[in-house]
Amino acid sequence: MRETDMYAALCERRRSNRKFDPAHPVPDDVLDRCLELATLSPNSSNMQLWEFIWIRSESMKARMVPLCMGQQAASTASHLVAFITRGDLWQARATWNLDQVPKAASEKDEKRNKLMQKYYGTLMPLVYRQDVLGISGLIRRLFTGVLGLFRPFMRMGKAGDRRVVLHKSCALAAQTFMLAITSEGYDTCPMEGFDRVRVARALSLPAGAEICMIVAVGKGTEAGIYGERRRVPSEQVIRKL
Ligand SMILES: Cc1cc2nc3c(=O)[nH]c(=O)nc-3n(C[C@H](O)[C@H](O)[C@H](O)COP(=O)(O)O)c2cc1C
Repeated sequence: MRETDMYAALCERRRSNRKFDPAHPVPDDVLDRCLELATLSPNSSNMQLWEFIWIRSESMKARMVPLCMGQQAASTASHLVAFITRGDLWQARATWNLDQVPKAASEKDEKRNKLMQKYYGTLMPLVYRQDVLGISGLIRRLFTGVLGLFRPFMRMGKAGDRRVVLHKSCALAAQTFMLAITSEGYDTCPMEGFDRVRVARALSLPAGAEICMIVAVGKGTEAGIYGERRRVPSEQVIRKL
């Protein structure tokens, strides 16, 4: 099969399944492979500000079910994976990116390294640094607002902008993971129906970490598919200019 056909088949086959078959647990090595693939997802500035928490112990899964509002997808899942944004790690990740820069062996390398230094040393703090009073956000908004009057400029500033950046990348990782699980012959259900405060406590998340979504994984059943897949007509969604 051509790669494009394989990808189309995966996208067609992936459905949100809300009732998994307890007789077919998903082997751990499947999760290992799919989580590794999730790390290959595109992400903003390669900052990789995410964490994938694999909830596999029976006791922890049982604890999560009521926190996921008792959803059947959670109670019947073989595994749960929480996709977490880790904005709190921005400094460590910026440093990690800088550490990856090879020593300059030529003038061209030196130029590239200077650019990297500017990017991770100056721009990333502008995007991610936060303070309690919100002063850095205000300065950012002013700065981008004024410069934006004269030329195209990325309008970053509000705390919400930063959260959007973090959740975009994390959701892409969740999608990579779900398609990988589909390719292994198993099923998933992404969930945002959970108590974020209690889940954060149960997972001992540090301040600054947020739950993007929790993905239930298992062998899907027919009863777990709630009807035909319905989509609004493509003309209402795809705009061609
Ligand atoms: C971010 C996100 C959150 C979702 N939360 C839930 C949820 O809490 N419970 C649930 O049953 N389905 C949830 N879904 C699944 C959607 O309802 C489902 O993707 C949509 O109806 C389309 O169906 P399909 O995935 O089978 O194509 C969620 C999907 C996404 C992307």
